[in-house]
Amino acid sequence: MASDQFAIETRGLRKEFGRTVAVKGLSLQVPRGEIFGFLGPNGAGKSTSIKMLLGLVRPTGGDAIVLGAPAGTVDTRRRIGFLPEDFRFYDWLTASELLALHGRLCGMEHAALRRRVPEVIEMVGLTPHADRRLRGFSKGMLQRIGLAQALVHEPDIVFLDEPTSGLDPIGRRMVRDILRAQRDRGATVFLNSHLLGEIEITCDRVVFIKEGEVVAAEDLRNRSRDETRVLVAAHNVSPSALAGLERWCTAVVADGDQLSLTTRSKELVPEIVRHLVSSGAEVYEVVPQREPLEELFVRIMGKDPGL
Ligand SMILES: Nc1ncnc2c1ncn2[C@@H]1O[C@H](COP(=O)(O)OP(=O)(O)OP(=O)(O)O)[C@@H](O)[C@H]1O
Ligand SMILES: [Mg+2]
Repeated sequence: MASDQFAIETRGLRKEFGRTVAVKGLSLQVPRGEIFGFLGPNGAGKSTSIKMLLGLVRPTGGDAIVLGAPAGTVDTRRRIGFLPEDFRFYDWLTASELLALHGRLCGMEHAALRRRVPEVIEMVGLTPHADRRLRGFSKGMLQRIGLAQALVHEPDIVFLDEPTSGLDPIGRRMVRDILRAQRDRGATVFLNSHLLGEIEITCDRVVFIKEGEVVAAEDLRNRSRDETRVLVAAHNVSPSALAGLERWCTAVVADGDQLSLTTRSKELVPEIVRHLVSSGAEVYEVVPQREPLEELFVRIMGKDPGL
């Protein structure tokens, strides 16, 4: 089933821990060069799935192909970066030493490391702390160095299990920029996070998993092109201008100066604005509304059944 188009393909991947079924039958296709969000409630099997894709946990059943080879081969592991959920490392090492050690384990040469280590430390904003021991690092600083170790060897896929949970808003923005830069150089990013606001603006595509199975998938790039609700604040909208909106809108609700319009596509918004302005209306605000990912998540997952 391996195909060059996909960085990761799984079929019926399953993991049981004794009587607990952690992953029931995961079937996934992750295209190369995308930022892929892996979403689901606590205990859904996300971390276990990631560990199976890395070869750290042996599946009870099913197949997983990563970069064209069965998950977990030594060669594939070298081309993968991983930031675990709970990043802990030898805390007597300094930030630079940790990255050099990790790079060497991935087969990097000394000269390449001398160039690359300061570069990734800079990328995660830790240059002033490069020679400090990890023991003294704060939670967010550890998460940053964890991200740096996942990227030091310029992997083809990077798995990030909750990369921003301990980060301040500037750190989160930094991670977002770093992930986009990874995608731009052709890497695949596999991201698991409960921070759906982050996911929404970072990911190209997401899947939702529940009890170890994919229950829904969403292409976030298409979402903005689909039917959109737009809130418009405008003075002097004449009745005929309002009636004319029907050309572009499937629903029009007017409440004083506030219009709520539903259009088939976001691409129609400029035409709507042009129509309003040319009919003499004064337009103050045009705000497209989308169902936030969080709402979608709750709708798909239903009520919290408890763990
Ligand atoms: N090593 C283990 N031994 C026994 N059970 C485990 C083990 N690892 C995970 N599980 C169980 O497997 C299920 C899935 O756990 P997993 O850590 O994959 O969930 P998750 O989706 O990552 O959740 P969270 O969002 O809370 O991180 C849970 O019921 C958990 O208790
Ligand atoms: Mg987890």
